[in-house]
Amino acid sequence: MSFLFLCRKGIIHALLAALAGLFISGCMPRPPVRVPEPAFTAPAESGTPEKAARSDEYWPSSVCLDCHDKIYRQHSESMHAKSFENPVFQAQYFNEVLPRSMKVEGLSGEARGCIACHAPVAYMKTKGYIFSRRQVKPESSGVTCDFCHTIRGYKGPRPGNANYISIPGTQKLGPFKSETNWHHVYSELQTKSEFCAICHERANRNGLEIMSTFTEWRNSIYAAKGVQCQDCHMNVRGFLTAGKPVYESGKAARMRLGYSPYRKRLYTHRFPGAHSRTQVEGALTLDMKLDMKTQGHAPRPGSEITVNIYVDNSKTGHRMPSGSAELRLLYLDLSAAYGDRSIPVPAVTRTTGMYDVSGKGRFDAYILGSGFPDGRRIYRAVCIDKRGRQTLSSYDAVRIEFDNRLNAAEIRKETYRFRIPEDAAGILSLRAKLYYLSYPAPFAARLGLPAAEPVEIASATKDIVIEEQKPALP
Ligand code: HEC
Ligand code: HEC
Ligand code: HEC
Ligand code: HEC
Ligand code: HEC
Repeated sequence: MSFLFLCRKGIIHALLAALAGLFISGCMPRPPVRVPEPAFTAPAESGTPEKAARSDEYWPSSVCLDCHDKIYRQHSESMHAKSFENPVFQAQYFNEVLPRSMKVEGLSGEARGCIACHAPVAYMKTKGYIFSRRQVKPESSGVTCDFCHTIRGYKGPRPGNANYISIPGTQKLGPFKSETNWHHVYSELQTKSEFCAICHERANRNGLEIMSTFTEWRNSIYAAKGVQCQDCHMNVRGFLTAGKPVYESGKAARMRLGYSPYRKRLYTHRFPGAHSRTQVEGALTLDMKLDMKTQGHAPRPGSEITVNIYVDNSKTGHRMPSGSAELRLLYLDLSAAYGDRSIPVPAVTRTTGMYDVSGKGRFDAYILGSGFPDGRRIYRAVCIDKRGRQTLSSYDAVRIEFDNRLNAAEIRKETYRFRIPEDAAGILSLRAKLYYLSYPAPFAARLGLPAAEPVEIASATKDIVIEEQKPALP
């Protein structure tokens, strides 16, 4: 701890770091240079340098701030820093999961699981029994710098459900191959999707894969091309630009003394996703085309027109929405107008099983509440509990009954047909908008949270001249 304390005092930290380095390499067995590969397992428990090192505690992220200030700022903006404070998480954990876990068998395991992913340092300290917000100190709140950088492997054959092996200590595992010393150590796992999967892949107590971002990625063309989660989420833009990541460059650490080389590739730590404030612009796109083949002519008063909208998910490396399957939804709205008059876009009636092509179906009075117009196209998964009702609780779901989320790299075509009114003239304006909704209104109401704001993530517009009515031939 004294190292940490002194570390905060600017100038001497570098010297201290060097000293500590000498001390460690002089008096102790040298740290293993690499994490064994390809099986990402931890080194033997006993006799590891971590045990011998003086700091066997997780370091608060504020310690990293001294030298990694830029990364620190990016991290503070990310959902990783807020994963425990997040009011949505807290409401569900403290108001529902925790009280119910005292009564319902099997739920206490789920409750510990919540903490294992959303506040892993607190989990490691308490073995997961968190009854009060106050048990989680600010420095162990969220997914901290030190937690990610002390993950050495995962237990069992596959990563998921927080099966991390994390050993606190002076060594921080990261992506730099060359300089391996007392502070930073190369780890291949940190550069791979398997690392993220440890927390982004989750099966609940009923064995249902309620969060399967890693599996979705593994089945995508991106996995086949070797594009990892990090390549998209840790580049400057949050997605690929012309098929390639654009990385930050510069120094990974800033110290008054000591050496930090210029690096061509650094990893951004904002981790943009869809519902966070750091949301990405331009990740999904829309394209709109009039279907002239079906229609045969430009829009005319009294005629029917066909509009195709292409919802493009090719920049996302997994389904959209991904993550919490029970909550997230995307929806597409089309509006048509001439002058100040709008043309109603008709409700969809054609059905595919229990759900119509719009993605609406049974249970929707409960799940979507009111205010979801029928013409709206919805992309989402519908989870069912053991009594056959739709559920918005990840831990109660037993199966996914319906799932029309966009696949990775998919371009979904949506077709709309409607009639131009007889008296229409001038310009026909078509506006399509794609929205992301973190969770539906009834979920917010149940937990006493403000309703989630729909976020517009893509749009397309088209203005077409309505052909004048030809005078009837005599
Ligand atoms: C969710 C896990 C996670 C958190 C939280 C996290 N990191 Fe990282 N960090 C990574 C991964 C993964 C990489 C390597 C990416 C790669 O190689 O593809 C990385 C790379 C780095 C690097 C290498 C240099 C660079 O910029 O690329 C440093 C230094 C670093 N992190 C420091 C920090 C600090 C300091 C914090 C907190 C302020 C932090 N990290 C929080 C996962 C995390
Ligand atoms: C005394 C300054 C200092 C402090 C404090 C510090 N680091 Fe570093 N860190 C460095 C330097 C210098 C490098 C090497 C940068 C390089 O090689 O480009 C580095 C590199 C790293 C790397 C890259 C590892 C690799 O081999 O790929 C990670 C990860 C990292 N630090 C994490 C952390 C975390 C997490 C904290 C806080 C718990 C922290 N550091 C605190 C100075 C510091
Ligand atoms: C220790 C567990 C853990 C690890 C490891 C981890 N994450 Fe996360 N991540 C979380 C949690 C928990 C949240 C959710 C925060 C919330 O919404 O409350 C999250 C949120 C995110 C988000 C924001 C989602 C949104 O909708 O805004 C992205 C993007 C993300 N993680 C990507 C990654 C990537 C990429 C990696 C691997 C480099 C990774 N994470 C590693 C636990 C983790
Ligand atoms: C090809 C690039 C790419 C890859 C690879 C990729 N992602 Fe994403 N991911 C995105 C983009 C882009 C978004 C955001 C979409 C938006 O904001 O509209 C996103 C969104 C997310 C979200 C939020 C989803 C939601 O519906 O709320 C999470 C969580 C996430 N990614 C985690 C991961 C993890 C974990 C991996 C690896 C298993 C991964 N991503 C691989 C590009 C990628
Ligand atoms: C295996 C790791 C893991 C476990 C276990 C886990 N979560 Fe999460 N949780 C995440 C990740 C990662 C995200 C972010 C992905 C996304 O954007 O949907 C998330 C997102 C959430 C969200 C959405 C937050 C928002 O702002 O929209 C809530 C609520 C939530 N989790 C609650 C819980 C509760 C309650 C439990 C326990 C019953 C739990 N989680 C268990 C990893 C986990």
